[in-house]
Amino acid sequence: MFTAADFIPKTYSSTVENGNFEWSAPSNIALVKYWGKKDNQIPANPSVSFTLNKCKTVTKLAFAKKENQVSFSFDLLFEGKPKEDFKPKIRKFLERIEVYLPFLKDYHFTIDTQNTFPHSSGIASSASGMAALAMNFMSLEKLLNPEITDDYFYQKASFLARLGSGSACRSVKGNVVVWGTQKNIKGSTDLFGVAFPYTIHENFQNYQDTILLVDKGEKQVSSTVGHDLMHHHPYAYSRFVQAHENLDQLTAIFENGNVAEFIKVVESEALTLHAMMMTSMPYYILMKPNTLQIINTIWKFRNETNVPVCFTLDAGANVHVLYPENVKEKVLQFIQDELVGFCQNGQYICDEIGAGAIAL
Ligand code: PMV
Repeated sequence: MFTAADFIPKTYSSTVENGNFEWSAPSNIALVKYWGKKDNQIPANPSVSFTLNKCKTVTKLAFAKKENQVSFSFDLLFEGKPKEDFKPKIRKFLERIEVYLPFLKDYHFTIDTQNTFPHSSGIASSASGMAALAMNFMSLEKLLNPEITDDYFYQKASFLARLGSGSACRSVKGNVVVWGTQKNIKGSTDLFGVAFPYTIHENFQNYQDTILLVDKGEKQVSSTVGHDLMHHHPYAYSRFVQAHENLDQLTAIFENGNVAEFIKVVESEALTLHAMMMTSMPYYILMKPNTLQIINTIWKFRNETNVPVCFTLDAGANVHVLYPENVKEKVLQFIQDELVGFCQNGQYICDEIGAGAIAL
């Protein structure tokens, strides 16, 4: 069993003065949702997600050894321009991970980052962003300690990303990633995301995710606040039990390829996530009228055509439309005909399952 202490390095065998790396990391969409956490970003229940392919953050990290080694020093560029308001989040991240990367104060860093999706789309960039940054830091650690194995590299990258933003730990690997200890999933752990270790039926290969942008505004209630409201939540215990059960069901479904059963679990998880928000104290609603319009239109289309298309939601109003690759044309036509009108400025993003972070 892993513990956090396994990621504290003992000594480094090499030295390095300066250099740079570049990594891309994708966003991910949870099927069984992580909602509620313990200290140190330990999830209250296990979750599983599809790693996406096109919605990515690309981050370049330049580093140079410095004289003063008592404080962090970094510049942050977003789309090529200095971005002061992102810095406190990065500083907090560095503070959290310093014990695992004791070289962080030895260098001045320039972090140059951009997203492949519009920043104002309401798509969370924290998962892809924290994962891309963690990959870069691991590349530097590997220069300092060339002996580390590939397994360690990816596990620790996910471990670090988790400390930046919980769901970011599922953005390091593809295509289906489990995070959180689940007794029936070998190797699953609360500390980092692992590639789903069992057979995945061909029905789920190249699964499609079209993200309908319903509301691109800032969320009224952040995920941090939402997770916190699961403490003392009247339904928390049964929700956490249910997440384990749903993950067991999905494990069987991934193997047997039953898309109808997949749809039941995935849509129920999405609505349960939002039900937790509506039954928190204080209570709140992140769905918008058009979120419900889209859900109802998908249900009607599915009933009438038997095309196995379904939805999921993250902590916001946007809708992820999920479907197998072999019905792609039909579903894209349906989206054009019946759903685009519910999207803000008619905007949506076509994505699909992907392989995880890539060194550029
Ligand atoms: O990683 P966070 O703290 O932004 O929380 C993400 C929570 C959900 O997106 C709603 C669910 C999930 O598992 O990704």
